Amino acid sequence: GINKKILVIPGDGIGQEVTEWGKQALQAIAEKHGHTFSFDEALMGHVAIEATGDPLPQETLDKARASDAILFGAIGHAKYDNDPSLKVRPEQGLLKIRKELGLYANLRPIRLFDELLGASSIRPEILSGADILFFRELTGDVYFGEKKKAEDGSWASDLMSYQRYEVERIARKAFEAARARRRKLCSVDKANVLETSRLWRAVVQQIAAEYPDVETEHMFIDNAAMQLVKDPKRFDVVLTANLFGDILTDEASQIAGSMGMLASASVGDTTGFYEPIHGSAHDIAGKGIANPLASILSAALMLEISFGLKDEAEALVKAVDHTLKQGYRTLDIADKKIPNDFVLGTSAMGGKVIALLQ
Ligand code: IPM
Ligand code: MN
Repeated sequence: GINKKILVIPGDGIGQEVTEWGKQALQAIAEKHGHTFSFDEALMGHVAIEATGDPLPQETLDKARASDAILFGAIGHAKYDNDPSLKVRPEQGLLKIRKELGLYANLRPIRLFDELLGASSIRPEILSGADILFFRELTGDVYFGEKKKAEDGSWASDLMSYQRYEVERIARKAFEAARARRRKLCSVDKANVLETSRLWRAVVQQIAAEYPDVETEHMFIDNAAMQLVKDPKRFDVVLTANLFGDILTDEASQIAGSMGMLASASVGDTTGFYEPIHGSAHDIAGKGIANPLASILSAALMLEISFGLKDEAEALVKAVDHTLKQGYRTLDIADKKIPNDFVLGTSAMGGKVIALLQ
């Protein structure tokens, strides 16, 4: 077996509730397959601001650098959302750790479990067979450009900018992934308007020439947003910039039935970082009803990508699939046909999956 140090950062809101189950899934896998995973924990986000004044305390960053992989929950708190005047904000912690660890590629697989065909607002015949892998650039774009504002509140500006190398390195990763899938790549930009998108498109065209076996297309973001719900099956790998990818993947979550089902992997130069794509969901935090499956599926991505444990990752995905096949649902994925006693809370759902791993 292998020996790995995993840092768990539950973060805010439902992150506290769901991350426990991603961790337990990793523990169960380790026991069953003869690996040794040691766990440490650290603060980030609103909970870190409350405890230390800093959304990303130095101690968290040090622990992150010293770990082999990171399992993260969610970030954010209602108190900041309607008060733009607050200068120290939970999200700064997440953005800073992405930058500090060089996590420039955010992989967001849109995997549709057959049992959830009815949970989406999109018609089953449109959805069935959809399988998309998003590559969202994660450490550049308007997220990290210079921010300015007039003191009197009359003006504000965020700079959107990209360096050529930033586009090159994520494009290469996306093309490599396309090669291992259905060999189709769609790069999404707004090259009819934005200078950064024209750079993006030129770089992707250049890299595409190195991958003649991959069928490449370029699509404008507005059209892509429409095509995603019109005909999701037309996509295989989607490559896009930070802000566009943030928006498109929330939209794409409806293909999988719920945000509560979607996992992501942020990778780059060093330690991999794994998190659900959903947020802290303050509206349901503390109620014990959040869906733990995105955290468990994030753990599966960790096993596969950071540790190269393909079989173990598959065992985890199979356990999730089997739990759904048994008919169990959390509220976010329960359609009207699900009997009440099959609608489970966070712990009961997590427990069902873990039971299948032992
Ligand atoms: C995400 C989130 C973050 C982002 C926020 C919390 C900063 O929405 O991971 O998608 O915009 O990247
Ligand atoms: Mn988002």
